[in-house]
Amino acid sequence: MKKINVGLIGLGTVGVGVVKILRERKTLLSEKIGVEINIKKICDKDITTKRKVTLDKNILTRNANDILNDPGIDIVVELIGGIHPAKDFIVEALNKGKNIVTANKALLSQEGKELFAHAIERGKNIYFEASVGAGIPIIKSLREGLVANRFNSVFGIVNGTSNFVLTEMSVNNRPFADALAQAKLKGFAEKDPTLDIEGIDSAHKLILLVYLCFGKFVDIKDIFIEGISRVSLADVNYAKELGFAIKLLAIAKKENQELELRVHPTLIPQDHLLASVGGVCNAIYVSSDLAGELLFYGPGAGQLSAASAVVSDLVDLTQDIKAGLFRPTLKAIQDQSLNKLRAIDDIKSRYYIRFMTEDKPGVLANISGVLAKYGISIASVTQKEKRKGAQVVPIVMVIHEAKEKSLRQATSIIGRLNIIKEKAVAIRIEDV
Ligand code: HSE
Repeated sequence: MKKINVGLIGLGTVGVGVVKILRERKTLLSEKIGVEINIKKICDKDITTKRKVTLDKNILTRNANDILNDPGIDIVVELIGGIHPAKDFIVEALNKGKNIVTANKALLSQEGKELFAHAIERGKNIYFEASVGAGIPIIKSLREGLVANRFNSVFGIVNGTSNFVLTEMSVNNRPFADALAQAKLKGFAEKDPTLDIEGIDSAHKLILLVYLCFGKFVDIKDIFIEGISRVSLADVNYAKELGFAIKLLAIAKKENQELELRVHPTLIPQDHLLASVGGVCNAIYVSSDLAGELLFYGPGAGQLSAASAVVSDLVDLTQDIKAGLFRPTLKAIQDQSLNKLRAIDDIKSRYYIRFMTEDKPGVLANISGVLAKYGISIASVTQKEKRKGAQVVPIVMVIHEAKEKSLRQATSIIGRLNIIKEKAVAIRIEDV
């Protein structure tokens, strides 16, 4: 049986998972694919700490060049994360005629355009299934299963940490800080959770989804990003009363030849499938012209889940190598019906708005007067009774579709009225 040699760079959690799967499923895999996948070398800066897998010491190295310069290695798996030296290793491996598997969404979202072009030039591929949704086969589904489709929109819950925090707030009535502490305690959130909580990780993943769906490599600056750190428990609960769940959504939406790209906390109807995606689970809801509306759902993180995706990429590559084929899977064909990205000011949305105001005659008239001036129509309004001892009352509104720019102007003017005691909260509503 043909043996295909792999060099693994990065023996962290996912790397150990890959070694485990390839070892424990060796017979199953070779029977299924007709090729033996052999890990020839493993590189990590720490090769002394014991891992939860038995390793042959002879294949361990601290020097990535031992992998990059080995002509017997066909595929390099990069699992160290970050930009450098990961990028340098990938470029060098491509230069040496190797194919790549990586889970590095931060790197691909920033440098993917260049790396993919370089790979195509070299007649090699970069596979990256584990970079979005861990073991959920979303990349392969978009690239292959839905290859003949044009896409209208993608809505993703693609960050498990944020989804866990929002779920804790909603289900266990915990304020944001407590919910985040809980996520850290359970090992879901990093010590510095900024990338996850502030929507940056979701934006990295959105860049890859947009590339696959619309054939366009966008810059992170093209995406409007707002994280969940300012979502309050009060808003989670008011939203619930109104029939909505709050989710951090990564959104790509095509309308009139323009593409909207945004990541922000979003109210979605409680009866929508995405609203029931809880904890660290991820889900990607895709609207396609031939296959219709599809939902991909499952754990968005975890050792074996991410490693399962890495192994599936390895299998794909082994089949091409065995057949002596080069499939240009990285080639992007841009959706010709798109001609520009829509600025956040120009989007239209329904909104949930909460004002904190004095409780006296004329307050509502004042607020609605300004909204009317900006052409904003109120769909529903509730004023909560003043809590004992409180100086202010919440006025919670849902407004009909309005332009983002008008909403910002109106809330800024309302914010300057004496009756307003705190900055207004506005959260976009998507009917998905
Ligand atoms: N940090 C990510 C998350 C997992 O919380 O979803 C890896 O993509």
